Amino acid sequence: MAVNRLLYECLRDAIHDASLPAATRLPPTRDLALDAGISRNTVMHAYEQLVAEGYARGLTGSGTYVAERIPDLAPVRPSQPSLAAPGQAVSGRLSERGRKVVMNAQAQATQWGAFLPGLPDVTQVPHAKLARITARLSRELPPSTLSYATNGGYPKLHQSLAVYLRQARSVICEPGQIVVTEGVHQAIDLITRVLGDAGDHAWVEEPGYWGTRSILAINGIRLKPMPVDAEGMRFPVSSSAKPPRFAFVTPSHQYPLGPVMSLSRRLDLLNFAARHGTWVVEDDYDSEFRFSGHPVASLQGLQPGAPVIYVGTFSKTLYPGLRIAYMVVPPAFATAFRTAQSELYRGGHMLQQATIAEFMDSGQYAAHIRRMRLIYAARRSYLIGLVEQSLGPGWLHPYDSNAGLHLVLALPPGTDDVAIAAAAAAEGVIARPLSVYYLGRKSSPGLMLAFASIPQEEMLAPWRIVARCIRQAVALTR
Ligand SMILES: Cc1ncc(COP(=O)(O)O)c(C=O)c1O
Repeated sequence: MAVNRLLYECLRDAIHDASLPAATRLPPTRDLALDAGISRNTVMHAYEQLVAEGYARGLTGSGTYVAERIPDLAPVRPSQPSLAAPGQAVSGRLSERGRKVVMNAQAQATQWGAFLPGLPDVTQVPHAKLARITARLSRELPPSTLSYATNGGYPKLHQSLAVYLRQARSVICEPGQIVVTEGVHQAIDLITRVLGDAGDHAWVEEPGYWGTRSILAINGIRLKPMPVDAEGMRFPVSSSAKPPRFAFVTPSHQYPLGPVMSLSRRLDLLNFAARHGTWVVEDDYDSEFRFSGHPVASLQGLQPGAPVIYVGTFSKTLYPGLRIAYMVVPPAFATAFRTAQSELYRGGHMLQQATIAEFMDSGQYAAHIRRMRLIYAARRSYLIGLVEQSLGPGWLHPYDSNAGLHLVLALPPGTDDVAIAAAAAAEGVIARPLSVYYLGRKSSPGLMLAFASIPQEEMLAPWRIVARCIRQAVALTR
């Protein structure tokens, strides 16, 4: 059972048998996380669930309290392990790394709705066009297309991607360097396993993407959080004590804060990597959506032969459930990656890959991206307008670079963004707190608000809820 579920059930039972009496303040999420040795996000999920079911109330800015009147518990449940025991309760059954990944799990249980980050508007997917291509290809292609994928995926997609990546992202690549993966997550897992060993170090952005961190951690890679500023990830340019094996970066649009990595920092990173045998992994997850200025060219394309692995995905341009992404590896490593991929995962989805290749070659993919870019730009401006009308100017995070599928609101220092998120979640709105994207103790409060998947006419109601929660919390902080 996931630890947040276990924690939720322990707390719920304690509320029921009055060991936690009505109106008791639950421990602050940060304290409980530290005491129990679990992530703050895990505690937050458990609290959100209690609030959503009426066992607790989230008072913005002042914490979470046991409700005065609690719902009936039906059916009667067997007794659960005590609150102090989530780690111990599972440690007998799970491996050490299994326990860690479950305890620090960050993926939201809900994967659709305002203002959940990371999602494109999947209702705009050109299903009819894609289905027509798939229907024809399923008659024309040989049966092997429905067998296991080998050799890094469907060859025609390698060709289409190479053309697209050279033109749209300035990536230096040939089709033979491309490996099609089940999402960025599989690409990162494969990179970590093929090029890293347990105990190796990786620089990761702070704050940064939890998915990358979870995959690295379960593969025994030690994480070194490196702070992000207006120029992207900051790192020592001269040799550090132990140079990292990997540097994971999102240079086109840092996740989650949004800055573009500056040219001088890109060159410093490439030089550092070449000198110290570090692999730079460029996660270009949403670079297609930049709403002003020129597209930001890839880091990989800056220096031929640089030790960079470029990773991109169809999750944001088409839809995440497709689970198709790609990476570009240096030519000398392509066979090793393709072999390891078939050996470890025995991929598939070649009919879908063939469909996407044709969709790209016909120009429809580029047209879909252009259309979605206009839609997202309008939704972003609309949301910023709502923020300014409700709260006044100056809330957009200073590193925002007018791109992507979400924006970040910077909250005044000391604001409890987790409590705001819990209060909004209790009313059915997901606004992820920025502080949970930090690995270290020092974090800045903020709220991530995705705009891409919500039409303007559906934004006002959830925004009013978030705005009220922010106002209440900020009034308490001041
Ligand atoms: C920075 C970043 N990388 C990768 C991903 C996931 O990509 P995929 O769906 O291809 O696994 C996300 C999803 O939100 C992301 O934010």
